[in-house]
Amino acid sequence: MKIFLDTANLESIKKFNDMGLLDGITTNPSLMSKEGGNPKDGMKQITNIIKGDVSLEVVSTDYAGMIEEGKRLRQYGDNVVVKVPMTSDGLKACKNLSSEGIPVNVTLVFSPNQALLAAKSGAKYVSPFIGRLDDIGQDGMHLIKEIKEIFSNYDFGTEILVASVRHPMHVIEAAKIGADVVTLPPAVLDKMLKHPLTDIGLKNFLADWEKLKSENSDIKI
Ligand code: G3P
Repeated sequence: MKIFLDTANLESIKKFNDMGLLDGITTNPSLMSKEGGNPKDGMKQITNIIKGDVSLEVVSTDYAGMIEEGKRLRQYGDNVVVKVPMTSDGLKACKNLSSEGIPVNVTLVFSPNQALLAAKSGAKYVSPFIGRLDDIGQDGMHLIKEIKEIFSNYDFGTEILVASVRHPMHVIEAAKIGADVVTLPPAVLDKMLKHPLTDIGLKNFLADWEKLKSENSDIKI
């Protein structure tokens, strides 16, 4: 399963990229707004740091505007994936950008039918938002299971990008289902790498080593 970071925060992107964990980045207008400043600088830097796919989202809602913005966004790098909303105009833009060789991520997907239509339109990624479904009392992960089952019957080549991930259990469930990608807020990735027994174990190892040092004058690894 590929891991993307769901952020426009450069510090977090560099931190996890330096650990070799990141296969890509997803952004959206809300994440850009959270960072402030000029989003053009952020988009330029992110596409330079990350070698894998970087999803940058259009803000036009009409077909012509999406095409124009999508082409402008691609100028930030060959690794740019144009993110379009799951609307009629979004699917039309998806079809046309995809047929020109520009990869598209169809976002704001909340049903298996929407995922099926995005795949039919040639999307490289379909982004179901599981946390937002959980928030309204629906089972977000069930949607991933349904999309996985549908896609496994055909040969679309569209990848399931699990979005709106809220906690590490979402990641385990997505991996068990066999989702292609999860995009994670930095806080979730941080939680995944931590375990209290790791901290306790390390503390004890170091305390025992200090004991050994006090008994030997010249030990150094
Ligand atoms: O990638 C989409 C994601 O950012 C949405 O997450 O937490 O705003 O529902 P959230």
